[in-house]
Amino acid sequence: MKLKNKIALITGAARGIGFAVAKRFAEEGAQIVLADVMEAELETAKSKLANLDVRVMTVKMDVSNREGVASAMDMIEKEMGSIDILVNNAGITRDAMLHKMTDEQWDQVIAVNLKGVYICGSEAAKRMRERGSGVIINTSSVVGLYGNIGQTNYAASKAGVIAMTTTWAKELGRKGVRVNAIAPGYTMTEMMSTVPEKVLAMMAEKTPVGRLAQPEEIAAAFAFLASDDASYINGHILSVDGGLVL
Ligand SMILES: NC(=O)c1ccc[n+]([C@@H]2O[C@H](COP(=O)([O-])OP(=O)(O)OC[C@H]3O[C@@H](n4cnc5c(N)ncnc54)[C@H](O)[C@@H]3O)[C@@H](O)[C@H]2O)c1
Repeated sequence: MKLKNKIALITGAARGIGFAVAKRFAEEGAQIVLADVMEAELETAKSKLANLDVRVMTVKMDVSNREGVASAMDMIEKEMGSIDILVNNAGITRDAMLHKMTDEQWDQVIAVNLKGVYICGSEAAKRMRERGSGVIINTSSVVGLYGNIGQTNYAASKAGVIAMTTTWAKELGRKGVRVNAIAPGYTMTEMMSTVPEKVLAMMAEKTPVGRLAQPEEIAAAFAFLASDDASYINGHILSVDGGLVL
């Protein structure tokens, strides 16, 4: 068990990649805090982890709300203990071609995917710096590296996550805190439910391994970066995309 007794806070953990990360971390012995805006789904997610012999806590938290995030982290540290691992996973899409994108679509995606990561990262950094240890893993995307049609807002947010990751790695390395990011390729979650079958098939075709990812395959990379096996890995953007280059 690579994460025995570590306390891990995972945002956007009610479903998809976030839930898969929570499950994998729990299998590795971590104590889990599932954070999300979807309250009922959080409880369902928690019940799915009940057979694993670890503590699991849920917290309703909007990553884009500074006060809410700060008070949630205070509450977690009081009830469970110090947060050892933060996974910034919560993310949304509001796709449109550039000439049709509204400022509202831009603002919504930036608020969650960019400002949300900044807020959670800065609140965790305050606490981790003081203790001299911690791991932060951000969630970027292939789209943040290569761009994608119809995703100006999303691509900008995910490229920003890469820039924050490398900056935080430099700021926090000497304080005992490692910061890395995963850049998943196309992964079968509800986020992809709006993408037409034809486009999914095309993406699979373009991917050298010939298929899209399962959330568990992305979660495995998070578990590695969170563990001491990655003790000298800092500021790295790990593509988990089956070899896809857009
Ligand atoms: N699915 C993919 O193909 C893919 C590829 C690359 C990167 N990603 C990234 O991986 C992450 C997870 O994606 P997913 O596919 O599991 O998506 P998903 O839509 O299945 O899950 C996202 C979760 O984030 C939560 N969330 C949304 N806004 C929130 C907020 N303000 N505060 C807290 N929680 C919030 C949602 O309620 C949901 O549970 C996202 O950052 C996404 O951008 C996904």
